[in-house]
Amino acid sequence: MKVLAVESSCDETSVAILDGGREVLSNIISSQIQTHQKFGGVVPEIASRKHVEAINIVLDQAFKEAGVKKSDIDLVVATRGPGLVGALLIGLSAAKAFAYCINKPFIGVNHIYGHVCANYISHKELEAPFISLIVSGGHTYLVKVNDYVDFDLIGRTRDDACGEAFDKVARSMGLAYPGGPIIDKLAAKGKASIEFPRVMLEEDSYDFSFSGLKTAVINYLHHQEQVGGEVIVEDVARSFQDAVIDVLEEKSFRLLKEENLDKLVLAGGVSANSGLRKRLEERARKEGVKIYYPDLKLCTDNAAMIGSAGYYLYKSGKYDKNTYANPNLAL
Ligand code: KG4
Ligand code: ZN
Repeated sequence: MKVLAVESSCDETSVAILDGGREVLSNIISSQIQTHQKFGGVVPEIASRKHVEAINIVLDQAFKEAGVKKSDIDLVVATRGPGLVGALLIGLSAAKAFAYCINKPFIGVNHIYGHVCANYISHKELEAPFISLIVSGGHTYLVKVNDYVDFDLIGRTRDDACGEAFDKVARSMGLAYPGGPIIDKLAAKGKASIEFPRVMLEEDSYDFSFSGLKTAVINYLHHQEQVGGEVIVEDVARSFQDAVIDVLEEKSFRLLKEENLDKLVLAGGVSANSGLRKRLEERARKEGVKIYYPDLKLCTDNAAMIGSAGYYLYKSGKYDKNTYANPNLAL
């Protein structure tokens, strides 16, 4: 079964063609990051315009690279939320129009669910049940995945998303957007010499909170400025990143134990973080847990993960018939 997938929820225009849920024939990603960097973050209006400019070119390229004819496509899927509504509408409209023209079914996909499915592409043997830690620019969730389309939402952020905290802290340090990868590189050369809070919330909670940590870093930077103290950016990055990782590690492993599961599946842009990967691997080795993360290219937004999610949703028959864009679509 050939699946055509479109992703345009934020600042990447992406089209992929898959054979089934795990075999990627092409996955073209056109990033707008350079355009938005000037503004220190994604500007929604500009994102929509850039998607309009890119969508047909990316679509053609996806067919060329896959070596597939338009009439070979059996199913068309696209992200319908969450995301920027104007951005979502471009990819969604293009995909729906395409499905209509070739007279094939269309289904809308939840972007966050797509991030989890990126792992099915990178790990052909991966099967539920497992715990998934979803850490992206817009979302932070701890989820128990029972099968392809059945989830229990266990924890979520109460304020900033994990990637958002990386980006905001980076901005306060005068670093470029997106800040996550830059902090990752700096942290590798720094020492965890500054004491920042680990916000665990209530004892039994699996929720997250990152805004207090972000404020603590900003306060530290202001304080150093006021007293004329030295700021070693590598050390700030490392101290902040370690505080984030401590919380992610503690909650993920506590949940694995509670659910008696031995697979932890990472998803979303922050799962590219090298410090996080290293730490989770060390802990996993001690506890007999296996860690999965998508290939680096599949960690951040891409259409292949949406194609995998769409394929499994379609197979299950348990998908939402609503195909409208929903910027606040829940998991
Ligand atoms: O999943 P994603 O592409 O977009 C959303 O769906 O939100 O995630 C983007 C986020 C950004 O906040 C970015 O700073 C972060 O992922 N990110 C990282 C790394 N690479 C990307 N954060 C920490 N370390 C990284 N290596
Ligand atoms: Zn994403």
